[in-house]
Amino acid sequence: MSNLLTLVKTLLTLPRKRVNGAASLLTGWWLIRLLWRLRGLVAMTLVVLFVYSTWGWVGLVLLAVLPPVLSFAWRVLHPVSHTWLVNGLTARHRLRHTYGSRWDAVMVACNLHVPAPGGDHITPTLQKVTLAPVGDVLHVRLLDGQAPADFARQADELAHAFGVPEVRVTTTGPGRVELVLVLLDVLDEPVILTDVPPVTDLRRVRFAIGEDGEWRTRNYANIAAEVGGGVPGSGKTAGETSLACGLIQNPAVQYVVIDGKGGEDWSWIAPRAAAYCAEDEDLTAVLAVVEQVHGLMRHRLKTQKANRGEANFWNLPLDPNHPAVFLVVDEVQTFTDTKGMDPETKQLAWQITARLSALVKKGRSAGIVTRLLTQKPTNDALPTAIRDNASVRTAWRVMSKDAAEAILGPIVRDTEVSPVDIPEAMRGIAVVATDAGRLERVRFPFVDEHTAEIIAARVAGLRRELTEFGAPAVEDDQEAEDDPAGVRA
Ligand SMILES: Nc1ncnc2c1ncn2[C@@H]1O[C@H](COP(=O)(O)OP(=O)(O)OP(=O)(O)O)[C@@H](O)[C@H]1O
Ligand SMILES: [Mg+2]
Repeated sequence: MSNLLTLVKTLLTLPRKRVNGAASLLTGWWLIRLLWRLRGLVAMTLVVLFVYSTWGWVGLVLLAVLPPVLSFAWRVLHPVSHTWLVNGLTARHRLRHTYGSRWDAVMVACNLHVPAPGGDHITPTLQKVTLAPVGDVLHVRLLDGQAPADFARQADELAHAFGVPEVRVTTTGPGRVELVLVLLDVLDEPVILTDVPPVTDLRRVRFAIGEDGEWRTRNYANIAAEVGGGVPGSGKTAGETSLACGLIQNPAVQYVVIDGKGGEDWSWIAPRAAAYCAEDEDLTAVLAVVEQVHGLMRHRLKTQKANRGEANFWNLPLDPNHPAVFLVVDEVQTFTDTKGMDPETKQLAWQITARLSALVKKGRSAGIVTRLLTQKPTNDALPTAIRDNASVRTAWRVMSKDAAEAILGPIVRDTEVSPVDIPEAMRGIAVVATDAGRLERVRFPFVDEHTAEIIAARVAGLRRELTEFGAPAVEDDQEAEDDPAGVRA
């Protein structure tokens, strides 16, 4: 009974009271307010009555059947605009009815309100709701004196109040936060790609999916080096493969791959790679390839300004005749960790490390991006001179905080996001630093090697020799020809 009374009272308070009590009863103002409150239902009823009176039962059947049919046809013909409209309407409905109606109560319950004079209170403003693959996103304007940290502290309470497993709080600007009501962990499911779109802009290269289900991009302009580490089987090579599949389709990109595992993980790229070396024991061959890339860097640093008018490669337009060069060294510890090597091999390893170190330090303005992957991100495997100059770091699953710190730096000690927590079964999930310097979990897409092979074969015509761009020839050319599976440069 009391519920019924509350309902009637609520209905009668809209639109705002202007005429009250007996006057409202006598003038029929209460009826206007009731009709306004039920305006959706009233409009629908009027439409149904109009259709029935004009076209009879046929009209009613058409009214029931046409909208879903038209919506379906629209969705088939232009899914983007259809999804945009449906999501917009759903978000609007949720703003008004799902979240808006409870907003004040939740803010008060979670202690995110501010008392106002007269025993009243004010609450932050729920401005907008948007839909994301991970769940609903509430855009909130903070009250003066509030900070995003106040919401972050109450994230658990907010999750319980909204009935979702998790609420993530992100700052979107001064005085604004987004509450992401996480309904599903989008990183749980692998992202398997059956083809990879070409990378056309090296300043926005899609590399992985974030926890909000959106693609993350990286700007490879003015980047000298990237270091990635993780335990065996954590997804390093697969992550790098999916990235390479997009980049090799750009004619202004040349790839050089050295696979320290000595296996066939990278053989798919051979037809497209300017140089490919899968040697894990013959360090002379590896050094020859590294020397060639190093030689190209020196050539560009010495001649670029005179020849092309700019000392910095990235200030010039991308040009297939002056390509950006990506040097990938997988399992780099094979060449840098000298423990157990004989003196001669050690000498070669030191030379390789010195060249890689120079590339990492000076390759940026020559348009050479060095990418080092390792199972062992410790000092002996990855000298600090290399690691500290790598501005992009990716940590797949690691076993200890020390290993995490070795890749990502001391920031891992102060944040809850850690690559140590990544479960073994979640291959392809990694922790990366965002543009703002915070750490976040991402999932790399997976491209199986047959798909990668097809892509590489499709764009094999874009392969160019590094010597065409001024790099010195590889000294042991003869050896490379004798052993095409081992070295091709
Ligand atoms: N992003 C991913 N999504 C789904 N599965 C993945 C992903 N990345 C890797 N895997 C699975 O994990 C396996 C091992 O991945 P990968 O070879 O990349 O590991 P790795 O870290 O390079 O290991 P190693 O250090 O031994 O070379 C892959 O064959 C694949 O089955
Ligand atoms: Mg690997």
